[in-house]
Amino acid sequence: METPDEHSDRRGVEAIIEQTGTDIEEGRYPLAITNNPELYRLELRRIFGRAWVYLGHVSEFQEPGDYARRYIGEDPFILTRDEAGELHAFLDSCMHRGAQFCTAESGNTSHFRCPYHGWTYKNDGSLQGMPHMREAYQDLDEDEISLEEACLDTYQGLVFGRIAEEGPSLAEYLGDFTWYLDVLFGTTEAGMTMVGEPHRWESKHDWKTSADNFSGDSYHVLTTHQAGLETENLARGPWEELTDFPGASYLACTERHSVGYYLSEDDETFMGYPDAIADYLNPALTPEQRELFGRSVFHFGTVFPNMSLIHGIQSGGWGGPWACIRKWNPRGPGVTETTSWWFVPREFAGDDAFLADSHRGWESLSPGGAFESDDLTIWEGIADSSGAVTHELRGTRGNMQQGMGAMTDEVETVEDPLHGPAEVTSKGLYFDERNSRTILRAWCGMMRGGTEAETGTGDGSESEADPDPGSEAGVDA
Ligand code: FES
Ligand SMILES: [Fe+2]
Repeated sequence: METPDEHSDRRGVEAIIEQTGTDIEEGRYPLAITNNPELYRLELRRIFGRAWVYLGHVSEFQEPGDYARRYIGEDPFILTRDEAGELHAFLDSCMHRGAQFCTAESGNTSHFRCPYHGWTYKNDGSLQGMPHMREAYQDLDEDEISLEEACLDTYQGLVFGRIAEEGPSLAEYLGDFTWYLDVLFGTTEAGMTMVGEPHRWESKHDWKTSADNFSGDSYHVLTTHQAGLETENLARGPWEELTDFPGASYLACTERHSVGYYLSEDDETFMGYPDAIADYLNPALTPEQRELFGRSVFHFGTVFPNMSLIHGIQSGGWGGPWACIRKWNPRGPGVTETTSWWFVPREFAGDDAFLADSHRGWESLSPGGAFESDDLTIWEGIADSSGAVTHELRGTRGNMQQGMGAMTDEVETVEDPLHGPAEVTSKGLYFDERNSRTILRAWCGMMRGGTEAETGTGDGSESEADPDPGSEAGVDA
């Protein structure tokens, strides 16, 4: 039963959610949505309880028994490949008293044995047995007991999990964004493979801040990473062309996901990969996808809610090319654990010289690298200030108006086959915040909760698609 204070808090955050839905159509949003403890609890249920959430890559789980701890929201899941080769994601909670049964971050095992009373499960989730089974559980139907399991599906080797038992398929959830994921993770015939172990680090920032940043905030590079620009670390090699903002470079968003591309005029750029990449290209790519990859210098984006990606050349002696997936694990209001995976095309996985160069590129965007600390300082400050009572009481609005009609009368849609299925405007790349608005609109769609009839989604958005992937789930937050 809610106390009067809790009831009032709940009414307050519902009002903030509604206000966000209205504000975003004017390119504004309540700053109080960031680092808000009451909203955070709702995010765990309404977003992370219903969305398809990135968990890992198939290349991490090649052998039966390979497993790793991964999170959906704050829920700890064990992603593992069973003895028959099937992938599963089990909640790390024993069906006896709920104890965590997996104490390692990753490894290989055919069974999990709970440390509390010794119940043991096979890596397909079924109950293997328990101590003194005959004496203690004569009538127990063991077949009725198995670990709680998330729904799982994959696309281009990317494994996604969902807590809600009902809802749209992964293909429906990703929608048109699969066109871009093909270019990001399906460019070579053998596909991408993870190298080494993912890195993890915790920081005091809101998961939404980094998801927004990677969705398409090229604008911040000019200020946040000014030191890198001034020392020309970001302006050498293919990056030099960026000073001219080549017209084909763009930001784009589908219903709820977003991407950005820095492109060169040369269709043999291939992000700086060794020349042999041209021999390894996936024949399934369309000519447009092939040209897009050929001209690519840098890609980035966010798959809502909390998977981001970055792929390309890191110039100025920082190495590369490299591909990276970031996952922004919520670990409490205003606290995020970042997981960072390093990927290379499988064809180059045995090329030591390439790997050394690629690894330096990946490292440059880590807490010990050149650019991450620039961002983390800012992101932690956002969490610190956005939690201010002033913002909540005064309803302070932040701004996301770049690229909206109210800001300029020069925004036009630009047609180009390299743009894929999403709409691209003339203000792309640096001066359009439509990707940020898309992420926030998806946030609103799910945070409004309830059924489709209760939430509605047609509030004049830039995308006409329903941004509420949980609407079919019938999961009441
Ligand atoms: S809680 Fe796992 S065996 Fe008792
Ligand atoms: Fe940055």
